[in-house]
Amino acid sequence: MNADCWLADTRTSYDTVAVSYADQLREALAGAPYLRAALALFADVVHAAGGGPVADVGCGPGHVTAHLHELGVDAFGIDLSSVMIDVARRDHPRLRFEVGSMTDLDLADASVVGLLAFWSLIHVPDEAVPTIFGHFRRVLRPGGPLLLGFHVGDGSRLKTQGYGGHPMNVHVHRRQPDQVAAWLRDAGFTVEAQMLIDPDESVPGAVLFARRQS
Ligand SMILES: C[S@@+](CC[C@H](N)C(=O)[O-])C[C@H]1O[C@@H](n2cnc3c(N)ncnc32)[C@H](O)[C@@H]1O
Repeated sequence: MNADCWLADTRTSYDTVAVSYADQLREALAGAPYLRAALALFADVVHAAGGGPVADVGCGPGHVTAHLHELGVDAFGIDLSSVMIDVARRDHPRLRFEVGSMTDLDLADASVVGLLAFWSLIHVPDEAVPTIFGHFRRVLRPGGPLLLGFHVGDGSRLKTQGYGGHPMNVHVHRRQPDQVAAWLRDAGFTVEAQMLIDPDESVPGAVLFARRQS
């Protein structure tokens, strides 16, 4: 798949749905106790690592970034979609949000203590994942924690509309946690924990905790 194409399609799709996505997801964490628990655990691990800036990569409208902030984490958001970033800044004016892509992460080496990518890798094709995990490793401090959330399963689906029927053109990739863990180990991470969420649903979620090796 041509990188420029899928990135451009992802950007346009999320620009189109950003306002509806924010409206539909704003209170989502309130009804997601296991995700809240995972975020609380991540916040604890970040604090134990000494604290410092944490990047929420593919932050969307920033509700998870804001939740981490409420947990005392110095979180900031990065997203491919400039409209998502406009919405995030509107909804959370005291937090920092920047437009950027995880495929070319514009952060200095070892500049963040932690990194979160919650359901933002789901649009990245397999062949791009190792490079992205290389960026994650590069920007994290040695020993810094990483938290990933993604759809569990096999194969990809083309999503042509969403969040109130708006047009989209993105592939949604489902993955097995073992595959994601293997890519992480190859990129220089130690995998520390994983949680399977909604295993009885047709598309479960996985949350995976890893740490940059020294
Ligand atoms: C399903 S939403 C998840 C948003 C948020 N993390 C959440 O948990 O609600 C996927 C987000 O990832 C962003 N995204 C997709 N590909 C990206 C990339 N290459 N770099 C940065 N953000 C990306 C999209 O723009 C979108 O905002």
